[in-house]
Amino acid sequence: MSRHYHIVTFGCQMNRADSERMAGVLDDLGWQAVADENQADLILYNTCTIRDNAEQKVYSYLGRQAKRKHQNPGLTLVVAGCVAQQEGERLLRRVPELDVVMGPQYANRLADLLAQVEQGQQVVATEAIDILEDITKPRRDSRVSAWVNVIYGCNEHCTYCVVPQVRGKEQSRQPEAIKQEIISLAEQGYKEITLLGQNIDAYGRDLGTRPDGRYRMTLTDLLYHIHDVGGIERIRFVTSHPRYFTERLIQACAALPQVCEHFHIPFQSGDNGILRAMQRGYTREKYSQIISKIRHYLPDAAISADAIVGFPGETEAQFTQTLDLVAEIGFDQLNTAAYSPRPGTPAAKWDNQIPDEVKQDRLQRLNHLVAQVAAQRSQRYQGRVEEILIEGVNPKDPTQGMGRTRTNRLTFVAGETQVGRLVPVAITEVRAFSLTGMPVTSLSGAGQVG
Ligand code: SAH
Ligand code: SF4
Ligand code: F3S
Repeated sequence: MSRHYHIVTFGCQMNRADSERMAGVLDDLGWQAVADENQADLILYNTCTIRDNAEQKVYSYLGRQAKRKHQNPGLTLVVAGCVAQQEGERLLRRVPELDVVMGPQYANRLADLLAQVEQGQQVVATEAIDILEDITKPRRDSRVSAWVNVIYGCNEHCTYCVVPQVRGKEQSRQPEAIKQEIISLAEQGYKEITLLGQNIDAYGRDLGTRPDGRYRMTLTDLLYHIHDVGGIERIRFVTSHPRYFTERLIQACAALPQVCEHFHIPFQSGDNGILRAMQRGYTREKYSQIISKIRHYLPDAAISADAIVGFPGETEAQFTQTLDLVAEIGFDQLNTAAYSPRPGTPAAKWDNQIPDEVKQDRLQRLNHLVAQVAAQRSQRYQGRVEEILIEGVNPKDPTQGMGRTRTNRLTFVAGETQVGRLVPVAITEVRAFSLTGMPVTSLSGAGQVG
């Protein structure tokens, strides 16, 4: 009789990539995926703790399944990811029904952990460990676009952030292993890859130096190493750090046709005092210079970022600097969040915390501006022909395909739903965060014979 599993994923792309690998492990072990978690014999929650609300969500899910386990003792409950790493043993005490609590570094070792469960153990796997080179085949959600991890962990010390605690030290994968994975993706028909790292500019720092003291491998070198895998039409990478972002990297993006004109470079705050308190290691001026350089080489590039409002001590005037930077840069998209104190981070202990109402008010004002700025940025697509990679079908209108421009704008395409096609699309409607258009072939096709 086959056993069924269900995975629920919270958080960022790293977690989504880890979930795909863990699903691959379970497939290999002969488990079958099932859509309804109440039908599953194994439920795996891959968790996020970047903000308090992300963490709390996990506990409400867990409570429900822990109850179900009392009726069905054969149910296996696994908590993976960042809450698991943060809480470790404490999580077992809080939810004794759990079978496995495993940190992100153990994603590729899920099979070993489940073998221990079969022997009747309750497993906590949160010790720092070398991440196993990916030997299992991930079960990927998309057939077109794939995540490729290049560096795990983060060595930065941003004073608000839990990621270094829960993801551990930076560990770069070998360039050859990365290239092999991309070649295999191309053979399976994938058209787009996104290279992943929390601080992707750190790629290669742990892979040694040359005799002259320079790193043997950098993100820029990696792009040159992998850009020409036949069949891969689009290459993206996230997340960039302004502290380490180089002009050489921009030049590589401009020189390599597969690398898309989209940069995700979180700035977090527009105020230099706040940036210093966050220990981000750059100034607002440096950030603006990076964007100017990008626009010098790639005038049409899209720029997106993350920002935090209500960091401890942020005054109204300092918050205004963030608004000002958003207007100055003209972001295509911005992920915004109210500061959330996280366990074990320096800023959580400071006594100059900002009241919730103030944070919420700032968040609303920032989001309002972001929507305006994004709508302005979208205007440039009106009437243009953009290359769209069809990734799926519009859930609200099955006659429309859904994909993205090279610059990452979500685009709905009338009458073209064949997943994996790259189509030139004449843009007919623009909105703040999405576009609609028609394939150019069908426009010109109207006047053609045969
Ligand atoms: N490595 C990336 C981002 C990782 S976390 C970087 O350095 O930019 C993703 C985003 O979550 C961050 O960019 C930040 O904007 C937000 N974030 C992280 N910690 C937070 C906290 N304590 N409160 C609110 N937002 C936070
Ligand atoms: Fe967190 Fe900073 Fe590392 Fe990004 S660079 S993951 S914000 S510590
Ligand atoms: Fe969340 Fe962990 Fe990613 S805390 S944002 S899932 S690295």
